[in-house]
Amino acid sequence: MEGRDLVRSVKVVGSARAAQGLRTLRAAWRRRRSDAVGLPPRGAERARVPGLVQDAEPGPGGGVIRFGRSELRITVTVTGAVFWGWDGAGPEPSYALAGRCPEPDPRVVLEPDKDGGWRVVAERVTIVVSRHGAVEVCTPGGVTLRRDLPPRWWEPVAGGTARWMQRSEVAADARFFGLGGRASGLRLRDGSYRLWNTDPGHAFGRGDDPLYLTMPVQFVVADAGAHLMFHDTSWDGTVTLREGEEGAGSGHDRAGRCELRMDGGPLRCWVVVGTPARVLHAWASLTGAPALPPAWALGHHHARWGFGSEQEVRRIVAGYQERGLPLDAVHLDIDHYDAHQVFTVDQERFPKLPVLAEELRRDGIRLVSIVDPAVKAAPGNAVYDSGSAVDAFVRDAAGEPVRGVVWPGESVYPDFTHPRVRAWWGALYEERLEQGFAGFWHDMNEPTSFHAFGESTLPRSARHSLEGRGGDHREAHNVYALCMARAGYEGLRERAPQERPFLFSRSGWAGIQRYGGTWSGDVATGWPGLRASLSLVLGLGLCGVPYSGPDIGGFDGSPSPELFLRWFQLGAYLPLFRTHASLRAGRREPWEFGPDVLEHARAALVERRRLLPYFMTLAHLARRTGAPYVRPLWWGAPEDRALRDCEDAFLLGDCFLVAPVLDPGADRRAVQLPRGRWYDTVTEQAYEGPGQVLVDAPRSRIPVLARAGAVVPVRSDDGGLELEVWAPARGRTGGGLVVPDAGDGWGEPEIERYVARWEGRRVVVGRESEEGVSEPPCPVRVRGLG
Ligand code: GLC
Repeated sequence: MEGRDLVRSVKVVGSARAAQGLRTLRAAWRRRRSDAVGLPPRGAERARVPGLVQDAEPGPGGGVIRFGRSELRITVTVTGAVFWGWDGAGPEPSYALAGRCPEPDPRVVLEPDKDGGWRVVAERVTIVVSRHGAVEVCTPGGVTLRRDLPPRWWEPVAGGTARWMQRSEVAADARFFGLGGRASGLRLRDGSYRLWNTDPGHAFGRGDDPLYLTMPVQFVVADAGAHLMFHDTSWDGTVTLREGEEGAGSGHDRAGRCELRMDGGPLRCWVVVGTPARVLHAWASLTGAPALPPAWALGHHHARWGFGSEQEVRRIVAGYQERGLPLDAVHLDIDHYDAHQVFTVDQERFPKLPVLAEELRRDGIRLVSIVDPAVKAAPGNAVYDSGSAVDAFVRDAAGEPVRGVVWPGESVYPDFTHPRVRAWWGALYEERLEQGFAGFWHDMNEPTSFHAFGESTLPRSARHSLEGRGGDHREAHNVYALCMARAGYEGLRERAPQERPFLFSRSGWAGIQRYGGTWSGDVATGWPGLRASLSLVLGLGLCGVPYSGPDIGGFDGSPSPELFLRWFQLGAYLPLFRTHASLRAGRREPWEFGPDVLEHARAALVERRRLLPYFMTLAHLARRTGAPYVRPLWWGAPEDRALRDCEDAFLLGDCFLVAPVLDPGADRRAVQLPRGRWYDTVTEQAYEGPGQVLVDAPRSRIPVLARAGAVVPVRSDDGGLELEVWAPARGRTGGGLVVPDAGDGWGEPEIERYVARWEGRRVVVGRESEEGVSEPPCPVRVRGLG
């Protein structure tokens, strides 16, 4: 660039920044003013507790227990999930539920308990209600998993929404997980966790909370068993956790505590107890099966804010191809839009997007488009005009459209909680499909509005349809992205019915998995960010959202070659395997970090491609059973306390244990093994669990261990299917599941079951079916015979 041009462009950018700065100031004032006039004043409040028990009336699956000042409805459903709601709250309407509430279990009985209390007895759980309204969740053997103390409400004297508080106790040895995506760690330590989807406004680290995707889902694991507790209310709230302490055999254990305070909404919840697998199965039947991604979405994605032109996209793709590096998708960020306006294309820099998309597709590479919800408030912008025509945009309490500020400047926000608005929005994906995009990346949907001060979102008084019930942003905020995902998903189903919609979203809520996945958002570049990206993926999986992944290398700055490599190696084993970075960040192409990193990144890419049939199997299993691809080490052994505290490794399905390197300078690391024999997948050295072992972690790879007996579907060198079998321990058998997938479409492949066993000195593998055991239809490679 010429010196003069440079000066001019700096000036243009400078004045554009100043204009945007002014807008964010005005928007912050507008927001404050809207809430000052649009929100009901809090005023005097009256506190209430349920009071003493009066009587009870049995009903299907449980019944209603009446107290002096409230009533409690309990229903155990056929799926084993238990619902209870105070003050007459029922399970519907709910944004979390996938459809109608499951049927009540007719075998359940409501019977009197000691001291005037009542209990609901079901096959797998007993709910004991005290005469003051404490609710205990017990195993059939009578061990208490959780005790909710009588709740407390604060009701505005002048009428309106009550705030409420629920305290609970869990076993002294219990550990808390979940609450959506949290950066601080997989295990939720003592502290407060807010339930309000938030763009932190900068690249986040481990101390940033809340983040983009929160949900009131607690996954609790204790010696006595695991349970999931979901409070079905989307209002702003805070969960304060305190882990318990054991009195070292003195009998003076201190219970773990949880206190939930909500600004409003019904006090109702769902509880599921059982093994982790059973809990997530029931959770998925309640809130919906995770959407099945097309096979390409399980490959490697390269994203970048600021490709800036078709030429640059071609240059990056050529960089992958020339070096023989597998690449499955390229993501275009807001810089391909015309002046940052959603559903437009900058015709100067991307003049032939459909041609580019077609060329890439021929090479097996898909284009993915960012989709931001905010629409530039400018007559003449087609999306603004068509949205205005159907009254699509959120209004304030005075009936004026709410204006926020996002990338394109002053913007308005579709009200995705209205079915008509979702239908209008879904139809806009037609334009994206015509441009050749195959996948969609929903961003800025907390929703975010840049404000010079105060919260970076819509005014709380902003009005929403909430499916016709009517309400305001206090209730709609947390489900905004969920409803946006629904709009996109349903629009794509209609417009490209042969294809599996692929979308992933920055924000979301319970049930988002029905429509797609999520990603970490703007994780800060640095070793703590690497750790945080793992805890986000694991935590979300325990909330029923199995498909996610981080910005590999971190969103901002420039990772060291070592950090980039370790992030890349971890990402290769996470469902969404995507490099991405900010406009201002350093390079992220694997070849930009020197020849060593390139070779090791290549190995990770090649291994990911080899494991694709396994990832696809995990995607099908997630859809059918709710089990996440990526699971904490305690998944199969929640009673193993050492595993419960382990946050630096994970299981990839049933077959692998992945132990990423999360610290600089490491060439070995300790790994906590679950029970059984595990093989280092490179050296084939066998280790026996349970216990801790030290394994090699040279720069070239992170340790991946295979479970003895595992049967893993992998891609053979010629692109076909092969079964990789890890020798069972002597005298034992093994096995595995394979779901052959067509890559896309709606076929329902049958699950294939394989068994592995010793026959003399050989390990043989057979396919089990109703007709008996037969030869596998593909080659078998046995490993770990050492
Ligand atoms: C947000 C997203 C990020 C994206 C950027 C520009 O910060 O989280 O991924 O690159 O916006 O669209």
